[in-house]
Amino acid sequence: FGSFGTLDGGIFDDEINFSFYESEMRRYYANIVGKYGPQVLNAIKKLGGLEIKYICPSHGILWRKDVSVVINHFANWASFTPEEEGVVIVYGTLYGTTAKMANVIARELSWNGIKNIKIYDASKTDHSYIISDIWKYKGLIIGSAAHNNDVYPVLHGLLHKLKNYGLKNRYLGIFGNMLWSGGGVRGIQAFADSLPGLELIAEPVESKGEPTLEDQKKLEHIAKVMAEKLKSERA
Ligand SMILES: Cc1cc2nc3c(=O)[nH]c(=O)nc-3n(C[C@H](O)[C@H](O)[C@H](O)COP(=O)(O)O)c2cc1C
Repeated sequence: FGSFGTLDGGIFDDEINFSFYESEMRRYYANIVGKYGPQVLNAIKKLGGLEIKYICPSHGILWRKDVSVVINHFANWASFTPEEEGVVIVYGTLYGTTAKMANVIARELSWNGIKNIKIYDASKTDHSYIISDIWKYKGLIIGSAAHNNDVYPVLHGLLHKLKNYGLKNRYLGIFGNMLWSGGGVRGIQAFADSLPGLELIAEPVESKGEPTLEDQKKLEHIAKVMAEKLKSERA
């Protein structure tokens, strides 16, 4: 039940503002514990019959007021249950065209009523933060420029980790850019094929250089389908 984030004075759950630790705890869970969901769920099951007064992890907040908060979070994260309606768009780009494509998708998601949209350039943000948001939201859209017949190198590490964690229960969209025989979209498709718990929601879109109007419509289609799927799950 540990967390990232230093304890800056307050050490108990009733002495701190949880919002900072909530995101640091999710980032910790996803990146450190992420692969071991079944073991976490088994361990939580064992706690089932006990009356728990304190949870004192070796690092992170000590729990005494509301231990169910941390137990529920860990149980949800361990079962890949998304927390909120939203979409992570993450891309790797050489010259910026794939970034433009990401913005077309993001704008259309917004027009279709999705409010939590997080765009990440995989070269610029530490992957632990991107993975943390992927744990939080059910929508995931990945884009890549073609690079030597494969995905852009910075995406390799991210995709490898998600595969290793066995990411599941996510809607997936794929897009990318190329100039001759492609490779980025193909690489992401291979990643998707290796994870049966990801649902590819639309045909991948691969532009040759600057996206044409037709390409833009296809990108908007990914966004529309994603938004519809997410909205259909509203309570
Ligand atoms: C080092 C390097 C390797 C590339 N490898 C490929 C490739 O294997 N296949 C391809 O179709 N295009 C390849 N390209 C072209 C880029 O994918 C293309 O310029 C694309 O539009 C870049 O998208 P971006 O603007 O998002 O970086 C390569 C470009 C560079 C600089």
